[in-house]
Amino acid sequence: MSKRDILSICDLSAKEIRDLFESADYLKKRWQKGKYDNPLRGKTLGLIFHKPSTRTRVSFETAIIQLGGSTIFMAESEMQVSRGESIADTARVLSRYLQAVAIRTYKQETVSEFASYSSIPVINALTDRFHPCQVLSDLYTVRENKKDLDGLKIAWIGDGNNVAQSWLNAAIRFDFSLHLACPRGYEPDPEILAACQAKAENRIILTNDPREAAEDADVINTDVWVSMGQEEERASRLAAFHGFQVNKELLQYAKPDAIVLHCLPAHRGEEITADILDDPASVIFDQAENKMHVHKALLAFVMGGELE
Ligand code: CP
Ligand code: NVA
Repeated sequence: MSKRDILSICDLSAKEIRDLFESADYLKKRWQKGKYDNPLRGKTLGLIFHKPSTRTRVSFETAIIQLGGSTIFMAESEMQVSRGESIADTARVLSRYLQAVAIRTYKQETVSEFASYSSIPVINALTDRFHPCQVLSDLYTVRENKKDLDGLKIAWIGDGNNVAQSWLNAAIRFDFSLHLACPRGYEPDPEILAACQAKAENRIILTNDPREAAEDADVINTDVWVSMGQEEERASRLAAFHGFQVNKELLQYAKPDAIVLHCLPAHRGEEITADILDDPASVIFDQAENKMHVHKALLAFVMGGELE
């Protein structure tokens, strides 16, 4: 079987994602009972990170360890690639040691190039363009709370960023409607938006009005206004996103049983108020935990671990 790279949500079929969620259900139940299997014994996952991370790093590391494998974390700044070694040579060499690698970096092209030269599965652990593993965990969290993804109205409030663009990809795979409210100039990449809209029929709607997106929504979803690498734009972004905060007032437009998602880290008082993060409608910390369960399912899938 050829290796499976997960560079975007589009690298998985709807059936594969549903199967991953069933594996994650199984693994989560085992974990809740304090029980662990070792399907990845003897296998090593490499993590190459060029940007900070709390959740993605720790959830991948705990995931592989709990599956019986091991992990090696590599800060990109400490690797020879930071002194000019090519991505191609790095990929070829690491393929001789590791059984899979997860990469967090700036350009999507870097992970694609790495994948094309490596003989092991490559997982995108966040680029400026996509954050597929995050959205797998987000979808899993929605399914956990709403039973099914199909037929839901999901609102995205704020920046049309990497996480939003992975949500656009997810809207191709499932039958929910995705309503994005972004300030002018901060919408998703027009090419990604158009490609996803073409495939998702009328289920992807872009507006500049957060209330319109939130109206009767089953899920309210947001993310930071200043993503990693955009720190110099902070002042202009804070001004542009005024009015796009997820707060009690906005939540009133959603369905009474709506849930709130945020991939974290949150900037309390900017894109979301502290009271909403801690509100009963918030499933944000379950969402963070679910990254570990979903990453376990994903690692077992790409690294060839048979679950019982
Ligand atoms: N949600 C997420 O990817 O968090 P980290 O940046 O902490 O990994
Ligand atoms: N959009 C955010 C997500 C962080 C997990 C960023 O790229 O910084």
